[in-house]
Amino acid sequence: MVDLKNQEKSGFSDVQRAARLSIAPMMDWTDRHCRYLHRLLSRNTLLYTEMVTSPALVRGGALHLLDFNASEHPVALQLGGSDPAELAEAARLGAEAGYDEINLNVGCPSDRVQSGLFGAVLMENPALVARCVSAMRAAVDVDVTVKCRIGVDDQNPEEILPEFLARVIATGCTRVSIHARKAWLQGLSPKENRDIPPLDYPLVHRMKELFPNLHISVNGGITTLDEAEAFLDAGLDGVMIGRSAYHSPADILCQADRRIYGDGADTTPEEAVRAMVPYIEAHLDGGGRLHQITRHMLGLFAGRPGARIWRRTLSEGVSKPGADVSLVLEALDQIETLAQTREAV
Ligand SMILES: Cc1cc2nc3c(=O)[nH]c(=O)nc-3n(C[C@H](O)[C@H](O)[C@H](O)COP(=O)(O)O)c2cc1C
Repeated sequence: MVDLKNQEKSGFSDVQRAARLSIAPMMDWTDRHCRYLHRLLSRNTLLYTEMVTSPALVRGGALHLLDFNASEHPVALQLGGSDPAELAEAARLGAEAGYDEINLNVGCPSDRVQSGLFGAVLMENPALVARCVSAMRAAVDVDVTVKCRIGVDDQNPEEILPEFLARVIATGCTRVSIHARKAWLQGLSPKENRDIPPLDYPLVHRMKELFPNLHISVNGGITTLDEAEAFLDAGLDGVMIGRSAYHSPADILCQADRRIYGDGADTTPEEAVRAMVPYIEAHLDGGGRLHQITRHMLGLFAGRPGARIWRRTLSEGVSKPGADVSLVLEALDQIETLAQTREAV
């Protein structure tokens, strides 16, 4: 079990090492409650926030978007934006808040994001990306990294990706995550853009050969820790996992410390549930709602005995009047009773 109390508040020195495995930034999903849960399952894995836009922080003053729990380190703030000065200011605010890394989103294809010239559309403007990264690097001491696609629309990834990465490297940036598929900015929804454009992992491997000093994490379609290990064994520096880590966090994270970092014992979802109890109580005492936390816990037992009972107990019970942490303990009790029954058979 990861003891969150014993983790340093800040100054995590080796984010690069943590980036061997990272949990991708996911809007509405990787909020602070989700990250708290993930951290209970793995002490070493690098966690990313949801994207926070630089206008929201700098012009909107929405500093609450930077809130996180001290136990979340190593944790990276992902920013969206394309104005170098504004991104620099947003990065400064993020570093001041204690984030271990500031990441620029050059991969998100949503309409809203396109209209503000954020995200994947920036693949078409590597010079602007370089100006943004340079300005951010000048503003903070922590790592500034980029999460990108292999291209957009009719771009030829073989040509444009090396050029894009060379520009990014020239700013002094040493780490990127590459979602190994294009974004098709016209005609596909953001969700379709995570599934339909074909994955090209060999291209990511070729980028590693071309830029051996660049720390490259591969992202997209990776669903098991076995696959993650295979990418690391094949020479990539890191693996970033999104949806599978959210839907089946125990499968991705419980063995990650031992297998990916050679550091620490395996964890269990049951232990994580128990460790969530005081966190949930504090959240409820502060006026928060149970659902805000339990929605991230629904997949904890995915693929394990009792997964359906767990999910159903939590999702049906959460909206009942007076629902509190006892619901979570009741669901856990059902899982444990089931396990004992199976052992006895
Ligand atoms: C619900 C959801 C929200 C996402 N939000 C972001 C985001 O804020 N920033 C970003 O760079 N990518 C975002 N992504 C993309 C993921 O970071 C990741 O690149 C993508 O899901 C592919 O990885 P996977 O196949 O392991 O899920 C999001 C994905 C999902 C499913």
